[in-house]
Amino acid sequence: MKRLDDFRLRLGRHELVPIMIGGMGVDISTSDLALEAARLGGVGHISDAMIKTVSDRRYQTKYVKAKMAQYKYNAENSDKSDVKFNLDHLAEATRLHVESTMSRKTGPGMVFINCMEKLTMNAPKETLKVRMSTALDHGIDGITLAAGLHLGSFALIEDHPRFRDAQLGIIVSSVRALQLFLKKNARLNRLPDYIVVEGPLAGGHLGFGMDWAEHDLATIVAEVLQYLKNEHLDIPVLPAGGIFTGSDAVRFMEMGGAGVQVATRFTVTKECGLPDEVKQEYFKAGEDDIEVNQISPTGYPMRMIKSSPGIGDGIRPNCEAYGYLLDASGKCAYIEAWNREVAAHPDAKRVSVQDKTCLCTHMRNFEIWTCGQLTWRLKDTTHRTPDGSYQLLNAAHVFRDYQFSTDDSIALPEPA
Ligand SMILES: Cc1cc2nc3c(=O)[nH]c(=O)nc-3n(C[C@H](O)[C@H](O)[C@H](O)COP(=O)(O)O)c2cc1C
Repeated sequence: MKRLDDFRLRLGRHELVPIMIGGMGVDISTSDLALEAARLGGVGHISDAMIKTVSDRRYQTKYVKAKMAQYKYNAENSDKSDVKFNLDHLAEATRLHVESTMSRKTGPGMVFINCMEKLTMNAPKETLKVRMSTALDHGIDGITLAAGLHLGSFALIEDHPRFRDAQLGIIVSSVRALQLFLKKNARLNRLPDYIVVEGPLAGGHLGFGMDWAEHDLATIVAEVLQYLKNEHLDIPVLPAGGIFTGSDAVRFMEMGGAGVQVATRFTVTKECGLPDEVKQEYFKAGEDDIEVNQISPTGYPMRMIKSSPGIGDGIRPNCEAYGYLLDASGKCAYIEAWNREVAAHPDAKRVSVQDKTCLCTHMRNFEIWTCGQLTWRLKDTTHRTPDGSYQLLNAAHVFRDYQFSTDDSIALPEPA
């Protein structure tokens, strides 16, 4: 049987190992993780989700405090339309993250940034434009626009000098979403450089409804490939979601995939940004411990470990400090849900909100444990140590296992 290393991913003039590590916000796909992928000849992603928080943590800035101080007067107000992002701070935080990552890059691979368009930030177009153009200004190799795709995103950067030279990709979960995007962007005469086709087993938000289990990645990939062939479009397609072994990846390559995007297996690596104790929760999770629910205020279903401490928590909305999910008119579904519970329990010190979560605060604090469907198999990818915990992996080990394994085998690490 073939190995994934028998194939190459061609992106423009670049010839790469066909492994792309997907973006994982908030800073779960760290610079270190992305840089390992690039060093080994593949593609890694940093993420710009909650970039000001990431900047404060990593580069000792004080953006969150500054925003909180500016909008403190509004904390009791349900109307958050005043709470705007300072675009200069947003640009500066993006610059810091991109520059500090790219200055450390080694190897023949590439580093992209994952821009989640669901982060509407109380001014979707203005903020997305700043996020994308600043990343391009400071040398990111490419931008992946994540599901929740805004059809006009490419147009926001059409005047950027790197618009035609940087790699620009999109994530879709259906041939229909791809058709719409291409139609809307036809006037720009600028096709995506790659298309990630994300199926229903992926981590994070899903591009499906609660009927996700009725869809399957191979069928959607086949439809996308057929559509591109009919339209005489030569765009690399990277399947994603539930590709757990090198052999899983090879099967997609043999169908016509140009590479694969993977994430879950890297959540338990040392380079991943999750706290070590949370990585142990990912290892421990059984199949029944993973659910797809509708608590994300974005309106998209999201997959997570059922025991995530953020589920059901009723903290006060923290939009003055964060506010990444505020829509163009300053609304977030969590604020409504929280207000309803507070009105129903006027004497309670703390309410519980079951139907929505304060995703900004909980993702920031690593309290929503989003994960891929096959997280329950992670325990089979390592050793158990005498104290009952699982041995963390190196990103290079997981990367190479995808690259070289055959017959659905998974290489265990050297015992620590
Ligand atoms: C912990 C975690 C966080 C994720 N966060 C994001 C994200 O912020 N943006 C995004 O586009 N995809 C996100 N994803 C999806 C991955 O980038 C990837 O496409 C998908 O999980 C691949 O499937 P796999 O995890 O089964 O390999 C996330 C996945 C995981 C596991």
